[in-house]
Formats: sequence, structure tokens, C-alpha cells
Amino acid sequence: TSSNNVREGILVGCGNPLLDISANVPMNFLDRYQMKEDDAILAEDRHMPIYRELVDGYQAEFLAGGSVQNSLRIAQWILGQPRVAVFFGCVGEDDYAQRLKEKAAAAGLDVHYQVNRGQPTGTCAVLITGTHRSLCANLAAANHFTIDHLEQPANKALVDNAKYYYISGFFLTVNPPSIMHVAETAHAKQRPFLMNLSAPFISQFFMAPLMAAMPYVDIIFGNEAEAHAFATGQGWPTDDLREIGKRIVGLEKLNPSRPRIAILTQGCDPVLLIQKDSVEEFPVTRLAVHEIVDTNGAGDAFVGGFLSQFVQGKSLDVCIRCGNYAAGHIIQNPGCTYSGSPQFVE
Ligand code: AP5
Ligand code: NA
Repeated sequence: TSSNNVREGILVGCGNPLLDISANVPMNFLDRYQMKEDDAILAEDRHMPIYRELVDGYQAEFLAGGSVQNSLRIAQWILGQPRVAVFFGCVGEDDYAQRLKEKAAAAGLDVHYQVNRGQPTGTCAVLITGTHRSLCANLAAANHFTIDHLEQPANKALVDNAKYYYISGFFLTVNPPSIMHVAETAHAKQRPFLMNLSAPFISQFFMAPLMAAMPYVDIIFGNEAEAHAFATGQGWPTDDLREIGKRIVGLEKLNPSRPRIAILTQGCDPVLLIQKDSVEEFPVTRLAVHEIVDTNGAGDAFVGGFLSQFVQGKSLDVCIRCGNYAAGHIIQNPGCTYSGSPQFVE
């Protein structure tokens, strides 16, 4: 890949570094843990045996995961130039952390993990039933991220030095003060701050910190289910995705000179780009069933592809087309992984 001449460290992300433990399971596995086939939940005590069970009985695969880290790895793959993206999150001091670090380094991602010696690295069970996947995240060390990690001089310099910032909604369950700190930095420097609705449970249970961050958000990503959950959480009397998107971009914003943009994905249906006065559709190239390995990571890859172009100052049109390209590629590979060189043509 050619060099894109974006500088190192231009993009900073924060999130939960998780190792995915992925396996095909029968429906009754989900039933036993009272999970649904398209869930994304946080593990409670009753879910804790899942991880061991997957490893012992279901030929589980270990894959680098964690939503923001996925997106940044994909952005790096497309950029083909190391260390453009910097990632912060908290891991334990163990073999899983080592695996995550290796995968990140292989992708060219510049990770600066906070290390919590008392907790294991977080894991996410990915329970695949046919074309569906159900996620159960045991955040463990990831849940112990603290803002002082961002305040350490070397890390503070990385945050100050970036031009683009991306944080998932998932991180709202961990450390809202860090999110607000990054959001305020972005705002003070007039730099774009991007977030993701991440999962319906975020809008259901973490609406307050989400709304505290929202005035800073320049671009918000989400899928259909997440947009509907957000609308329900706001008490909006509509299930029309376009209308929901318009209402999201119309929410209070601190920097009115840069109106908020919402980008809503809908699986193989067109991506919606919603701005103050317009809704545009971007078609998705539908994959045949036999081409799909698993859709796990599709949304994260979409964001990764988008970011890879956005940090180069490309138009939203190019960013979204690259998002669709990246998602389409990842779907044809296990988890949020890629193979070969990127083939995106602008
Ligand atoms: P997961 O939720 O599986 O991944 P995702 O990236 O969100 O992918 P989805 O399959 O859910 O896609 P989507 O519904 O968001 O998007 P859409 O279908 O609209 O999450 C995986 C990761 O989350 C794991 O690695 C895990 O570690 C992490 N995670 C879980 N819990 C966490 C937590 N608490 N904290 C941090 N991380 C956590 O599709 C998007 C795009 O894909 C479309 O626009 C299109 O381009 C493409 N696409 C989708 N379907 C098709 C199709 N059939 N054909 C062609 N293209 C398609
Ligand atoms: Na995949």
C-alpha cells in the first residue's frame, strides 16, 4: 500500500481492549444462559462459566476484539502506514494482554495500555448460532481504566497531539470522566469528536453519561437497533430511522459551526448519512450467504474504514464507501479480522 502521508498519532481512541473467545454453539447453549441470538450484554455472575465452557467444549477461537480497538486496527490496515492511530484501554498482566498487544502491533496500531495487576484482561464471548452472534463481555481489567492514565505526561502529549478522537458508547460503562476529558480537549482545539451508540443497553442504562457527552459529538455512529433504543430512551414517538437520525443531529451541540452528523448502518440495506437538512443513502454490496463467514465486527470495521479516510480529510462520501468496503471484507473473515492487502478504490 502506498503511504497516505497522514502523520503519526493523528487519531486517538479509548475503549475496552477485549480478547474475543468465539465459537459456534447450539441454541440451547444460549437458552441455558438466558441469552438471545443477537444480544450484546455485560457478563453477570451467572455468565462467568461461559468462557471456560467455550474453551473446553466448543473449539473456541481467540481473536483480538474490543470495539474501538477493532475499528482502529481496521483503519490501520487500510492506511498501511503504522502508528497513525493510538489506543488507550486497560488490560491485566497476562497472556491475553500479550496476544492483544501482538495483534495490535501487527496491524500497526500504537497501543498504550494501562495495566491493572489485580484483574485479568477482559474477554468477550462470541456465541455464533448460524448467521447470528451473541456477545457477552466480561470487562474485568478493562473496567478499571482510570483518567490518571490519560494524565500521565507521555499519554497527555498523545491526546493533545491528535486531531481526531473516537470513543465507543461501550466505554460509558467504564469511565465517563475520561470520555468528558477527551471530549473537552477535542472541543477546546476545535477538533472532531466521534462516538458510537455501540449497543442498545447503552441507551437503556447509560443514557445520562451518553447525553452528557452528546453536546461534544460531531459524528455519531449506530445501527438500527441502537438508534431505536436511543429513540425509546429519549421518549421519541417514532420508529422511522430517518426521523430518529434527524432528531439526533438536532440535539444540543456545543460547537454549532460544525453541525452534528449521524451515520446509521442497517446491515445489507443502505447506510444513512443524516445531516441537518438532508438524508443520503449509500448502497451496500450484498454478499451471498456462502460468502459470509460471520458478521461479527461488521459495525466496527465500518467505522474503521470510515476513519481511515476521514483522517485523510476525504469527503464523507468516500469515508462511507470505505466503511462499507471494510465491513464487507471483515464479514468474509472470522471475527474482526482481515486477510491480504486492502483493495479499496476511492
Ligand atoms: P459486533 O457488535 O458483532 O460487531 P459490530 O462491529 O457492531 O457488528 P454487527 O454485526 O453487530 O454489525 P452492526 O449491526 O453494528 O452493523 P450492521 O449490521 O448495520 O461486535 C463485535 C465486537 O464488539 C467484539 O470484538 C467484542 O469484543 C466487542 N464488544 C462487545 N461488547 C463490548 C464492550 N462492552 N466493550 C467493548 N467492546 C465490546 O452492518 C454494518 C455494515 O456492515 C453495513 O453498513 C455493511 O457495510 C456491512 N454489512 C452488514 N451486513 C452485510 C451483508 N449481509 N452483506 C454485505 N455487507 C453487510
Ligand atoms: Na467477521
